[in-house]
Amino acid sequence: MRREQIVVAVGLVYFLAALLFLWKVPPDFSGVSWGGVLFFAVLIALAEFLRIPLPRGKGAVSVTFPLGNATALLFGPGIATVVAGLATLDAQELSGKVKWHVVLFNRAQIGLSAGLAGVAYLALGGTPGTPELARDLLPALGSALVMFLVNVTSAVLFLSLRDRMPLWDTWLLYVRSIVPNYLGTAPLGIILAAVFNSVGYLGAAYFFLPLLVAQYAFKLQNDMRRAFLGTISALTAALDAKDPYTAGHSERVGELAARIGRAMGLPENRVELLRYAGILHDVGKIGIRDQVLLKPGRFTPEEYAEMKNHPVLSGRILANAEAMGEVGRWVAHHHEHWNGQGYPDGLTGERIPLEARVIAVCDAFDAMLSRRTYKESLPWEAACAELRRCAGQQFDPQVVDVLLGLAADPGFRQSMVTAVETAQAQAAMALEGGRARPGPPANGSGGGGGLPCS
Ligand SMILES: [Fe+2]
Repeated sequence: MRREQIVVAVGLVYFLAALLFLWKVPPDFSGVSWGGVLFFAVLIALAEFLRIPLPRGKGAVSVTFPLGNATALLFGPGIATVVAGLATLDAQELSGKVKWHVVLFNRAQIGLSAGLAGVAYLALGGTPGTPELARDLLPALGSALVMFLVNVTSAVLFLSLRDRMPLWDTWLLYVRSIVPNYLGTAPLGIILAAVFNSVGYLGAAYFFLPLLVAQYAFKLQNDMRRAFLGTISALTAALDAKDPYTAGHSERVGELAARIGRAMGLPENRVELLRYAGILHDVGKIGIRDQVLLKPGRFTPEEYAEMKNHPVLSGRILANAEAMGEVGRWVAHHHEHWNGQGYPDGLTGERIPLEARVIAVCDAFDAMLSRRTYKESLPWEAACAELRRCAGQQFDPQVVDVLLGLAADPGFRQSMVTAVETAQAQAAMALEGGRARPGPPANGSGGGGGLPCS
């Protein structure tokens, strides 16, 4: 069965499971406060509207979770399933930009998470409809835990199938970063439900609206960060436009560097900066003259010297971006060699920043797998063998070991080869019509990124 069909099947299974759940545990409308249900549905929709997307589609942070939990405690499993499932519909889903089976999956899994949380609350002895903080704290926390587990395991399963990524990697990439948000807001469910139960609408609003305002402030800050990331994309697009043969190379180096950083146990904020460094490592080529950067023949010594200046230019460009931290220093050294024979400073071993050593390996690996006008691509095994051969000379052997460990995974290999082939097919189409760079081998180690050691 193809991946797309599997993902569609998972969406349908979840949707049917949610319908089955509602059939077995139907909403109990007897004596329910419709105003209360509407009040919580509006709060959930508002929280969802103000949610803060994390970088690279890694989920989102919001206060929807405790609201869904409070709905389960106050109105029971059936109503919570419907309210949480429908009120969390987001703008993208409503606009039709999200595939129908993904919408079904999202609605069903969020509804089921809230519904099963309601079942857990009752099963653990929680008071139906009128929760109190002291009396019902443990059943409420138990229900929050069930909600968290159902939500997270469903998301990991779905994303792992969708992206053909191992479950553990999926957890690390998409889910781990939102766990603190979940755990931190989990107790708010019972507090909010108890306040609503004893004080009513105004009490719940006074309690919860400041949280929404805080979320809004974070959203504004996050929007600024996204604008900053947009600027990064513009820089790489400018470079790709200048040299379409390397289009997509920078993004792939960034992705690969982040994966290696994560596999080496670097903290997530450093992994994120490493990813930016990988994307921007060659941005200094913007400052290299076209007749040098795109030269089909061999460089003169002066041209080679100009080309070798690009890491320094990359470093200078990024040194002024405060949010980039040490990224400028890392990219300035991405052509240093472990044995000291690189440039610009001829640094050796661990004197080279770790992140620069990671980028050097990723740069070379992607360059070897890519076809250029002056060389054919190397087969996967040959590229791995070349890295192994150069470990300890050009490359940090530990970084090479980590990459080769990742490269042994068939899923990793498939995704990387596909990314390279797709980008090259797009570049070839873009170059049709006479923009292609004809001619013999150009420029050796200064141009095409870190090439295999000689
Ligand atoms: Fe470079």
